[in-house]
Amino acid sequence: MPRVAVLGTGYLGATHAVAMAQLGMEVVGVDTDPHKVEMLSAGKVPFYEPGLPELLTEMLATGRLRFTTDVAEAVGWADVHFVCVGTPQSKTSHAADLRYVEAATAAIAKHLTHDGLIVGKSTVPVGTGAQLRALVAAQVPDGVRAELVWNPEFLREGKAVQDTLHPDRIVLGGTTGPSEALLRRVYAAPIAEGSPVVVCDLPTAELVKVSANAFLATKISFINAIASVCEAAGADVTVLADALGHDVRIGRQFLDAGLGFGGGCLPKDIRALMFRANELGAGRASALLQQVDEINMGQRERVVDLAIAACGGSVLNRRVGVLGAAFKPHTDDVRDSPALNVAAALHLRGAQVTVYDPQAGDTARSSFPTLAYATSVEEAVEGADVVLVLTEWDEFLRADPTHLAALTANAHVIDARGKLDAAAWRQAGWTFTGLGRAAVVA
Ligand code: UDX
Repeated sequence: MPRVAVLGTGYLGATHAVAMAQLGMEVVGVDTDPHKVEMLSAGKVPFYEPGLPELLTEMLATGRLRFTTDVAEAVGWADVHFVCVGTPQSKTSHAADLRYVEAATAAIAKHLTHDGLIVGKSTVPVGTGAQLRALVAAQVPDGVRAELVWNPEFLREGKAVQDTLHPDRIVLGGTTGPSEALLRRVYAAPIAEGSPVVVCDLPTAELVKVSANAFLATKISFINAIASVCEAAGADVTVLADALGHDVRIGRQFLDAGLGFGGGCLPKDIRALMFRANELGAGRASALLQQVDEINMGQRERVVDLAIAACGGSVLNRRVGVLGAAFKPHTDDVRDSPALNVAAALHLRGAQVTVYDPQAGDTARSSFPTLAYATSVEEAVEGADVVLVLTEWDEFLRADPTHLAALTANAHVIDARGKLDAAAWRQAGWTFTGLGRAAVVA
């Protein structure tokens, strides 16, 4: 089995390192942050990801998995080097900031002591791989051969372990015969299970990833655009989405109307694609994604407006109970979280906002320390003039509306994720507002 180095131990890299060990390889995870390395070495995952802590502990115990800050040692030891570092949105434009990918790739190339395969997994703008090949050629020591290929990752937060061990597809971009064979050995188990392998050139592999995210984002903005038609026409978008979903060409997934998409991937990836498409002269793709982004950001404003309307035209000194801070359930990630965005916008308008999230309280507090944080649903809704359900955690869907109604000052709920049982909440005395649903169900 090849020895594997994984550079970057965030959501992607930590999960990938643990999964590669689970697939039977010897693995070293590398990060420049000593705190992360220390935590992971001690069996602690620095973020919330279901199933990962258990698998990490199991893999550390096998002796196949370790973590280090020593990139030279790790690269000198391994045969396959995965680049799993972040590509955040640049601070001054929609472009992706490639400094970490470039630094990690250059570090690998520089420290190679024998022939190696560098495998990019990070989400990058199309054309990056070709530039990185030039960087590798300039850095690699004499007498050592290095090949750079792209193998994008499609994992979802909250399902990262499952997605990595059982991928929907394995895309191998820019490989030669020997490097394709090597990666087929790395992924032998999922391939044997039936994961399809797509072998393609470097730019196609880079584009598959961003196009997948752009399509998912488009699907969400499509249903949110239709939701506004439903509202105006007195139709119910949740029923409509179910009916659409029965068509196998459409499918039901990613048709949940509501507050829209956020997180560390979809928003930045569509913006980076918009930027790159423009650079390449593909103006129509860019214009389409601009609309997708605008519809998405408009959903946040819409929920803010609904909350203001629920408080009679102003939220100044009104109490707003916010259920949910994470950008989606089963994660503590609040990067570009629509929920926190709405909570913060209401706070800026003078509302007293109390937020409760089952997992993301701490991460939310460090990003938005000025909001108040509760430790239970009850505490968040106590005395509230309006309650907003902004992330669809099971705990909120299971909550007893009768019990909660009694705690509020004014039992008005805005279900911004379309998952509450509207009839049950109305029956319990709540004024119920849903996105894309008529004010009162006929
Ligand atoms: C996404 C892609 O799914 C994954 O393949 C890629 O590798 C990384 O980006 P992730 O960011 O973990 O994964 O979240 P995802 O489950 O895709 O959800 C993205 C956002 O869309 C969330 O904010 C979610 O609440 C929202 N969403 C999703 C909707 O608003 N409606 C839906 O129907 C589905």
